[in-house]
Amino acid sequence: MKQTTDFLQMKQNNEKITMITAYDFPSAKLAEQAGVDMILVGDSLGMVMLGYDSTIQVTLEDMIHHTKAVKRGAIDTFIVSDLPFATYHSSKEETIRNAARLMQEGGAHAVKLEGAETIILEHMKALRIAGIPVVAHIGLTPQSVTVLGGYKVQGKTVETAQKLMDDAKKCEEAGAFAIVLECVPRQLAKEITEQLSIPVIGIGAGPACDGQVLVYHDLLGYGVDRLPKFVKQYENIQINIVNGIQTFIHEVKNGIFPDEKTSYSMKDDVLASLYG
Ligand code: KIV
Ligand code: NA
Repeated sequence: MKQTTDFLQMKQNNEKITMITAYDFPSAKLAEQAGVDMILVGDSLGMVMLGYDSTIQVTLEDMIHHTKAVKRGAIDTFIVSDLPFATYHSSKEETIRNAARLMQEGGAHAVKLEGAETIILEHMKALRIAGIPVVAHIGLTPQSVTVLGGYKVQGKTVETAQKLMDDAKKCEEAGAFAIVLECVPRQLAKEITEQLSIPVIGIGAGPACDGQVLVYHDLLGYGVDRLPKFVKQYENIQINIVNGIQTFIHEVKNGIFPDEKTSYSMKDDVLASLYG
């Protein structure tokens, strides 16, 4: 299994880092089997697994529940788990307690926090002191979507681009071992990637980042209708799923399934003594 220091080494070696979300036992098992470098138990599970319209409804208990299942499926892959909405803002103590639960109960190796406000940076430092590896997340931060006014590209103006660069550096200084950069122009992402010594994992941030992360269901075409511009859908497994279910329906309705091969038999003499 790769460790935090391996990801730093990969950046230095110009070796791209791959990360994919997983939310349950089978997705984790398949992500590990495919050989991804890191798994993210993202709070995007609120949308893709639970059908909410944002990540704001996701609770710490939800994150622990899903992280446990991922851990059982991927025992040999580095797992990052999202601290969900408003669970790392009130105090250092509460932040450490919540992050520790994701590690101790869930089995995560690291936690991810959104934002780079002073209070968040202080809490990142406290986590690091407690021995909890931290991934930062800046740019489009979905937990603040209500404040940001929607899912939009971030850092397109001089001021906002400079702020993102400053925020990225502050996260590195606060001790994050990696940073997720979401939905920013590729030119800005390139500058940030070059100026930081920790790996930058992009999503909607162009090709210059040290690594890329995508949502499992988006990448595989699994139960999602609307995809952001930055997603590449590599498969469309929902077609196979619907086809499989429709064939099942057809076969049951027409007496094709089950048959002798897919059912059990009893001996003739037992049958005869029972029912003549
Ligand atoms: O929850 C998630 O899936 C994420 C990624 C988009 C980085 O945070
Ligand atoms: Na997330």
